Amino acid sequence: MIVLGVETSCDDTAAAVLEDGRSVRANLVSSQDAVHAPFGGIVPEMASRQHIQAIQPMVDRALERAGVAAGELDGLAVTHGPGLTGSLLVGLSFVKGWSFRTGIPYVGVNHLEAHVLSIFLEKEVSFPYLALVASGGHTLLYVARGFGAYEHLGGTLDDAAGEAYDKVAKMMGLGFPGGRVIDDLAKQGNPRAVAFPRARLRTPYDFSFSGLKTSVWHYLTRKRPDRWRDEMADIAASFQEAVVDMLIAPTLRAVEEFGIRNIVLGGGVAANSRLRAKLAEKAGEAGAELHCPSLRFCTDNGAMVALVGSHLLEQGDRSGPRLNADPALIL
Ligand code: KG4
Ligand code: ZN
Repeated sequence: MIVLGVETSCDDTAAAVLEDGRSVRANLVSSQDAVHAPFGGIVPEMASRQHIQAIQPMVDRALERAGVAAGELDGLAVTHGPGLTGSLLVGLSFVKGWSFRTGIPYVGVNHLEAHVLSIFLEKEVSFPYLALVASGGHTLLYVARGFGAYEHLGGTLDDAAGEAYDKVAKMMGLGFPGGRVIDDLAKQGNPRAVAFPRARLRTPYDFSFSGLKTSVWHYLTRKRPDRWRDEMADIAASFQEAVVDMLIAPTLRAVEEFGIRNIVLGGGVAANSRLRAKLAEKAGEAGAELHCPSLRFCTDNGAMVALVGSHLLEQGDRSGPRLNADPALIL
């Protein structure tokens, strides 16, 4: 079965072609970072306009790269939530129209489920596993018990982890998006240089990053910029260590509580080098194993959408003309 996956939930226009539910024949992403960078964050109206311009060329290029003619597709898969309404509507309308025109069946895919399952693009992991999804819009922890069977353990009570990265990078004048820049800068810094706080919550599997963000802001504004500019790497490393610690603690608690031995990462923040290294080490100490998708499958991509779509189509699921974008879709 050859499936086209389309992803436009946020600021990346992505298209991929997947064969037999696993083999990635093409996976292309058109980033809008340069468009949103001057604003220090994603401007929703601009994001949907960019998707409109990019979607047809991206799909054409993905088919060309895969060596697949449009008529050879057995199914179409598209993210229909959660995300920015205008952005979601571009991908969904495009795929719906295509399906209506050609008769090729399509299914709507939950973006969060795609992140939870993206590891299967590269390796098999046995259920049940803990899935930590951390991106610019979400920070969530699930037990994945099988395809379509997810138990929500917790999530962020305020900012998403990626959002905290992006806002702190903005405060420090490092541009947008901030995750990768802070990750790189932190490699030259001391993670114990500044004692930024770790949120302590009553709910064991939840996360909170807004207090940390405010704490960095206070640290920066208490000093003159020419003073803290010398310690940028230390601030980045110390901030990052706090984020990583707060992502790891609930995950390890769940390993202990549920006795689950596999942990899977997903979402843009899963690309973070310190998170990958420290969680792998701590998971090992707790008798668990960490499974990380490659960077291109951590950040938003069409292949993970095609993966979930292939599974749904194979079990006979079909979406119809009434399916709508759902910005607040949960998993
Ligand atoms: O999953 P994603 O591509 O899009 C969303 O669904 O949000 O995640 C983007 C987020 C951004 O906040 C970005 O700063 C963060 O992932 N990110 C990182 C890294 N690479 C991307 N955060 C920390 N370390 C990284 N290496
Ligand atoms: Zn995402």
